[in-house]
Amino acid sequence: MLTRIKDLATKLAPRLIEIRRHIHSHPELSGQEYQTAAFVAGVLSSSGLRVQEGVGKVGVVGELHTISKDEHFLAIRTDMDALPIQECTGLEYASRKEGMMHACGHDVHTTVGLGTAMVLSQIAEEIGGNIRFLFQSAEEIAQGAGWMVKDGAMENVSAILGVHVFPSIPAGSIGVRYGALTAAADDLEIVIIGESGHGARPHEAIDAIWIAAQVITALQQAISRTQNPLRPVVLSIGKINGGRAPNVISDKVQLWGTVRSLHPETRAQLPNWIDKIVASVCNSYGARYQVNYRQGVPSVQNDYTLTQLLQSAAEEAWSSDRVQVLPEPSLGAEDFSVYLEHVPGSMFRLGVGYPDRIINYPLHHPEFEVDESAIVTGVVTMAYAAYKYWAKD
Ligand code: NI
Repeated sequence: MLTRIKDLATKLAPRLIEIRRHIHSHPELSGQEYQTAAFVAGVLSSSGLRVQEGVGKVGVVGELHTISKDEHFLAIRTDMDALPIQECTGLEYASRKEGMMHACGHDVHTTVGLGTAMVLSQIAEEIGGNIRFLFQSAEEIAQGAGWMVKDGAMENVSAILGVHVFPSIPAGSIGVRYGALTAAADDLEIVIIGESGHGARPHEAIDAIWIAAQVITALQQAISRTQNPLRPVVLSIGKINGGRAPNVISDKVQLWGTVRSLHPETRAQLPNWIDKIVASVCNSYGARYQVNYRQGVPSVQNDYTLTQLLQSAAEEAWSSDRVQVLPEPSLGAEDFSVYLEHVPGSMFRLGVGYPDRIINYPLHHPEFEVDESAIVTGVVTMAYAAYKYWAKD
C-alpha cells in the first residue's frame, strides 16, 4: 500500500504545486477565507468526498466514507488563513494582494490536506475506516478551531492529525515531537491606578509609571525565583500606555502582554501568581490595580501512540534519518490544541527549508519561502499514517 500511496502522490505532484501556487497568490486573512474555502470545496467534491461548507464560519469539512461500518472518523486538520504581511519574495506566484501573504505556510497545509484527500479517495475501498478532513479558518487569531468544534466538526471523531511547516527542517524531512509541541498562550492586561500630581512634588502623588516599572521588574524576577525552572513560563509585556505630560505624575498605566507556558498545572496557577505580585507592589505604594487574565489556546500536547504512528509512517516511507524526533517544544501557539481537548491527536512538523540555502527565512517573515518538494513528503506521511491508523485493528 505504501508504494501505491507514494506513486499516487508523486503523480499528483505537478497538480499539487499548481494548487499551492494558486492559493499562495490569492491569500485571505483570518475569518475571510471565502475564495480559498470555495476552491477547497471544489477540489474535495471532484475527488468524491462528501463536502460541507460554512462549518466553523468559513471552514470546510470533507468526509471520505470507506467500506467500514464503523461510524467513527479519523480527522485530518489543516488551516487556510494568511497574514497581514506585505510579501517581498519576488516570486512569480507571489501574493497578488497588497499587504497579505501566506507567510506561515497555511497554503502548504491546505495543499497537503487536499493532496491527502485526493490520494486516499483513490484507495478508499482499502482503508479500514472513515476520514474527515477539516479545513479551518482563522488559525492565526486562534479562533477557527473553536468555531469548528462548536459546529460539530469533532462529532464521532476518535483521533486527529495535523501538520505545520517548519523552515529550519530541510524539505524531505519531517519532525515529530512526543508530548508538548507548542505553548499555552494567554493574554494579560494590568491596570495600575495611582494619583496625579506635580512632577516636582512626587511625595504628594502616587506615581503609576514608577509603580508600573516596579511591577514589570517584580514579575520578571519572580519568574526566576518562584516558578519551577523545568516548567517554562515566559511573560512578555509588549505594550504600555500611561502619562500625559513630562512634568505631570501619571495616575494610570495600562500594560498588555502575553504569557506562555507548557504545563497545564503551571498555567492554572498563573492568574493568582500574577495577581499576588502585582498586589504586593501596588499595596506597598498605595496604588490600586486590576489584573485581567484571559486564557487563550492551551498547549498542544501530542499523544504518544499517534506520534509513534506518524513517526513509523514517515520512517517506513523514507528512512529514519529523514525523521527528526524534536527534543524541544516551541513557545509559539497553535489552536490545534483546541481539538485535543476532545480527542487525542498529534501534529508533525513538515520540513520546507531549502537544503542548499544558508538562510531559510522564519515563519511570518516577508521573504519566507517554501521548498515545494515538501508537499509530496507531507501528503505521503499524512496519507500513509491515516491508512495505518485504520489498519491497526
Ligand atoms: Ni501557522
